[in-house]
Amino acid sequence: MEPSTQKLIHTFGALADLGQEIAGTGDFTEMVRTSMHLLLGTLALRRGAVVECSGPGPLRCVAIWGLGDQALHGVEIDEAEIESFLGGENRESLSRYREKLANEGIELVVPMIVRGEVTGLVLLGGKASGEEFSNDDFETIRAMVRHIGVGIHTHRLLEQLAQRAEENRRLYDDLRTIYRDTVRAFAAAIDIKDKYTQGHSERVGRYSEIIARELGWSEEEVEGIQIAGYLHDIGKLIVDRDIINAPYHIDAKNSNELNRHPNAGYEILAPIRHPYADIPFMAKHHHERLDGRGYPDGLTDQQIPMGAKIVSLADSFDAMTTDRPYKRRRSFEDVVIDLRENSGKQFDGKVVAAFARAILKEVKGETRERRVTKMLGKGYLEGEQVETLLVDLITELDEDFSRKDAKAQRTAN
Ligand SMILES: [Fe+2]
Repeated sequence: MEPSTQKLIHTFGALADLGQEIAGTGDFTEMVRTSMHLLLGTLALRRGAVVECSGPGPLRCVAIWGLGDQALHGVEIDEAEIESFLGGENRESLSRYREKLANEGIELVVPMIVRGEVTGLVLLGGKASGEEFSNDDFETIRAMVRHIGVGIHTHRLLEQLAQRAEENRRLYDDLRTIYRDTVRAFAAAIDIKDKYTQGHSERVGRYSEIIARELGWSEEEVEGIQIAGYLHDIGKLIVDRDIINAPYHIDAKNSNELNRHPNAGYEILAPIRHPYADIPFMAKHHHERLDGRGYPDGLTDQQIPMGAKIVSLADSFDAMTTDRPYKRRRSFEDVVIDLRENSGKQFDGKVVAAFARAILKEVKGETRERRVTKMLGKGYLEGEQVETLLVDLITELDEDFSRKDAKAQRTAN
């Protein structure tokens, strides 16, 4: 084989290796360093450096071989030099440093030009054979430098992309925080209207979140149900303050007026683009009952969205466990009896069981925070019988589910 053919094959091999190196997703500096060594190896050169630049100013050294640490210290590129590189007048470029570079043994300064931009320079020198650079050498150098330039350009694009994605993510997080803060402000506004139930919406949001988490909902769904809890009574904003604040049971006319609030809530929430699904429906159906005796639509079990079932339980639980103008709050034992009796009629038993499990975990000290305990205030969830009440409730509900499953099985057969 002729020496020139052999050299050509060798160069092709080096280019193929270079392409593979650059396409790899590994460490950027390592990629540039390996590429430079391939170039130096292919031409048997003793010295080389790859520097980056983005516009006029100092050069950033990415890889260096066979040169002292200070070899490129203080070397800068200016606008005119960039222009001359882009115009193909390489010999004139970096002429201000010609002497310094020559003293370091650098003979060639080759620009990496990608998409009309100088992304960096490759500095080379010290042919092992002592010969001058041939035209073939120049061809090889140009081809390999182009490859390295593309690698650097791609890396920069990926970096910009990652940066933009990070900015977008931060922006999105900010928007979510703003949305959540706005919603909480609304919740506070709803509660201010009702002077007897201060903090009710906030607590319903938190209870709903605790139940959904216990049911194994995703983090996003849990956030959504919390929002729905905060906003469930937003429709009360259109109800007369005197009706909301009536100290005793209200008459049929006023009751009808008050019962407009789930539909009103839906009307208010439906036009808004919420970052979570079904918020308007959870507000609309939080007074529905499994037995169909709820309002506004008298839906039954399967027709009621799961989120609305959760908010409904959270809402009733808070109503039972806080003082109202016409009655004191009920004891925990009383509340458990009510939940047991109304599971399958008003409440979904699976939702009640999940809430009971979450409270039980807190009572047994298995959770990091005692959130339910805190909301109910000191002393409410204390005493040995609290644990027994919860365990019994969960057991009985589980037995209900098994019976229901067995019945469904028999019907299917
Ligand atoms: Fe309500």
